[in-house]
Amino acid sequence: MAEQKKLLRALAGETLDVPPVWMMRQAGRYLPEYRATRAQAGDFLSLCYNPELAAEVTLQPIRRYGFDAAIVFADILLLPQALGADVWFVTGEGPRLSTVTSASDFNKLTGVDGIHETLNPIYETLKILKSELPKETALIGFAGAPWTVATYMIAGRGTPDQGPAHALKSTDRETFQNLIDLITEGTISYLSAQIEAGAEVVKLFDSWAGSLKGADFNDFALAPTKRIISQLKARYPHIPVIAFPREAGDAYVGFAKATGADCLAIDTKVDLAWAAKELQKDGCVQGNLDPKLMVEGGDRLISETKRIKEALSNGPHIFNLGHGITPDADPANVDVMLKALRG
Ligand code: CP3
Repeated sequence: MAEQKKLLRALAGETLDVPPVWMMRQAGRYLPEYRATRAQAGDFLSLCYNPELAAEVTLQPIRRYGFDAAIVFADILLLPQALGADVWFVTGEGPRLSTVTSASDFNKLTGVDGIHETLNPIYETLKILKSELPKETALIGFAGAPWTVATYMIAGRGTPDQGPAHALKSTDRETFQNLIDLITEGTISYLSAQIEAGAEVVKLFDSWAGSLKGADFNDFALAPTKRIISQLKARYPHIPVIAFPREAGDAYVGFAKATGADCLAIDTKVDLAWAAKELQKDGCVQGNLDPKLMVEGGDRLISETKRIKEALSNGPHIFNLGHGITPDADPANVDVMLKALRG
């Protein structure tokens, strides 16, 4: 039987007249109902670990906008926490973690087998969503890709240039590689459990892939992604995978083929004529509206939405932003985008 959900049809390689659409960070601070539920939970991490409320915020943008996919509400930094790192969020600043900068720090982390005790609430959220989502809405699970997760675990915070992770990579290659391997194995186990709990698609966020060049890109962005996807495909051959090696530039070419990803998510810098020619031939492409337009609105939001739809209309496409929607976005602009896209 042909796949019914539009997102799964696009991921299977079908070209649709109107592409399926969802937005990175669609459950988030630009929505007043999200802010209310987060206040009810207490703080961001408490919200992530509360299945009822995490399911509620996942459903909020689906009710409001009727997106073709829901992404489970969680964070890429829950896996480090499950591996034994301390993780907390400073309001208005972002995440903080205990750092891994030596073999002795690495040795304090726990093994992969113990992660599910911490991550079990995320699987509970997925089970709730599986029963509550509209039948046409696909359910996406996710994790950070190993390099991006490692950059936070090494620096203990977000950094403009991922300097601490690059430094460890050159000064203590063994610890760095051990950390990449641990996150890789943890991610395979975490995503497998998400699939068992009901995720129909999984996405790997490699937000900082663009800072890896040459052989480093192959070793630490491409290779771990390939390992994760090949392990998942061996267990769950029918589950599509979206890879997002953000700002990979020319290294986007061939990335889907080399890793086994079914879809390549592209950032705002990617030229669309180039993407249609070089990337869409290998499968579905997702992206890439500039999130700034969700703040700005107006004619440019409409014309850019239509331009992206048109440029990628000769192959499988999932409409999305090139990065997450920001807290200052106007919720009404999402309706403007959807009208421009769906007519
Ligand atoms: O709606 C969704 O997209 C699902 C949930 C989701 C969140 N984070 C919730 C979140 C997803 C898929 C992520 C991914 C994530 N988390 C990434 C990769 C994508 C990207 O943005 O590059 C990264 C790097 C993180 C780590 C992270 N989480 C940072 C750096 C921050 C602080 C910056 C910020 O935007 O505030 C977070 C916090 C976070 N994760 C929020 C949300 C809704 C905001 C926290 C709040 O409500 O106070």
